[in-house]
Amino acid sequence: MLTDPVLLGATPTSVRVAWFTEWRGRAHEVALADGRRFAARTRRLTRVAEDGDSCAPRMRVDRLTARQVWRHEAVVDGLHAGRRVGYRVTSVDDAGHRVDSAQFTLAPAGTGDLLLLTSDHQLRALTVANLQAAYELAGDRLGGVLHAGDLVNDPDRASEWFDHGGGCGFFPAMQGRGSVTVAGRRWRGAPLLQHAPLYPALGNHEVTGDVGDTLAERFERVRPDTVDTTTYEQIFGLPRWYAATIGPVRLIVLFATRVFRPYSWDGSVRGTFAEATADLADGDRWGHGQHIFASVARGSEQYEWLAAELSGEAARRARFRVVMLHHPVHSIGWTAAPPFADPVPVIDRDPAGAVSAVRYEYPLAADQLLHDVEPLLSRHRVELVLYGHTHVWNRFRNDAGVHFLETSNVGNTFGAYLPGGPARMVPGPGDGFLGPYAVHGNAGGLEPIVPTLAPVHGPDGAPLPYHSSDEVSAFSLLDTTAGAVRSYRLDPAAPEPVPQLFDEFLLK
Ligand SMILES: [Fe+2]
Repeated sequence: MLTDPVLLGATPTSVRVAWFTEWRGRAHEVALADGRRFAARTRRLTRVAEDGDSCAPRMRVDRLTARQVWRHEAVVDGLHAGRRVGYRVTSVDDAGHRVDSAQFTLAPAGTGDLLLLTSDHQLRALTVANLQAAYELAGDRLGGVLHAGDLVNDPDRASEWFDHGGGCGFFPAMQGRGSVTVAGRRWRGAPLLQHAPLYPALGNHEVTGDVGDTLAERFERVRPDTVDTTTYEQIFGLPRWYAATIGPVRLIVLFATRVFRPYSWDGSVRGTFAEATADLADGDRWGHGQHIFASVARGSEQYEWLAAELSGEAARRARFRVVMLHHPVHSIGWTAAPPFADPVPVIDRDPAGAVSAVRYEYPLAADQLLHDVEPLLSRHRVELVLYGHTHVWNRFRNDAGVHFLETSNVGNTFGAYLPGGPARMVPGPGDGFLGPYAVHGNAGGLEPIVPTLAPVHGPDGAPLPYHSSDEVSAFSLLDTTAGAVRSYRLDPAAPEPVPQLFDEFLLK
């Protein structure tokens, strides 16, 4: 099997069990320790492949080649909250050989009162250590994993999900089958998803396009009209946005992310702020700036769904409302800038009418998260907004009491940008852009909160309102009994590499 069983889509009485093989097989089922059996449905992943850039020891190829991956899923129902049941999955392969997983335990939603908050795994070695430490801390109390997107780097490269040669693929890390060496120690990740359901969100790294001869080119060349999330949807059996009840939590997950482009405006590359000079004559090669994949602006389909969901009975009756998305609402991280607005193209032409420059503006007043989504969340008393993308830990609270948390420093930081420190790479005054773009700080206006328990101190001795490190990772746990969010640092090079609690806050 390519994976151990993965728990998904739990309800108060059921859970979906999915697993993956490299063959269609003849029969697949889940067997519970109490004797009940549930037949699985089988479907092939239609877009996964490998190419010359893949690190796929089981399938070395030099050009784009489809990969055979089959997904099996059974819905296990008739479960009781708080009661764990032993289970294993069994597949019979095409030759008639039977393959069994090891035995794990499953339970319906709301069993276990700690939810792991994480994101931006992207094949980082430190992610594997981070997940292992989180699991050792949460233990049997783990009730689910909330992943705010960027699960892998290239969504159609099968090995990144299943069997990356670096030992840090998405499922291996989340299932205790990884293998990386960090600070002289071997780390394997942890069997998170065999025991606790995963609730993912789409990040920019789960979106690809259809142009190009390599997976990297397909990923990089995605245009507003070729946005494709097929592999994510097929792997998780989820739509682009959805909601779920996890015990006292109503979780609402958005598709709020945009393509990454280099932070350039000098015409040298297909950039965030300008097209490459070499591409100007060929509109098919334009990148369209950091275009948003699916609008969350007022009046959009997704915004209307969110408004209805927040007004609905499940959200109103829940003790806690948690909204998860990939792009930061408030952040001092690098890639939070420019504003989350549709790029506004400004096209210059020479006297003969040929395009001589294309630049993109991102008006702060059109930021969809700040000006459309946040007021809605405030009005409906959302307690927590979780996101990722900038690879730092930072958090905020607005006047309506909404907490904003990014806990995505899991292996490579993109840096924190506060006054007096380094400047974000965005156009400044005199660069010919309207801006102004936030060179420092949070364009959303809220100040980052200093960790309550054990902040890191800067060179001047002052406590820092963020965590940003390439050596020390971070994760958070939402305690749904206490209504508290606790954040931990892990230094894998420490003599005793155990998580250190550095921040805690209550949701109400
Ligand atoms: Fe991202």
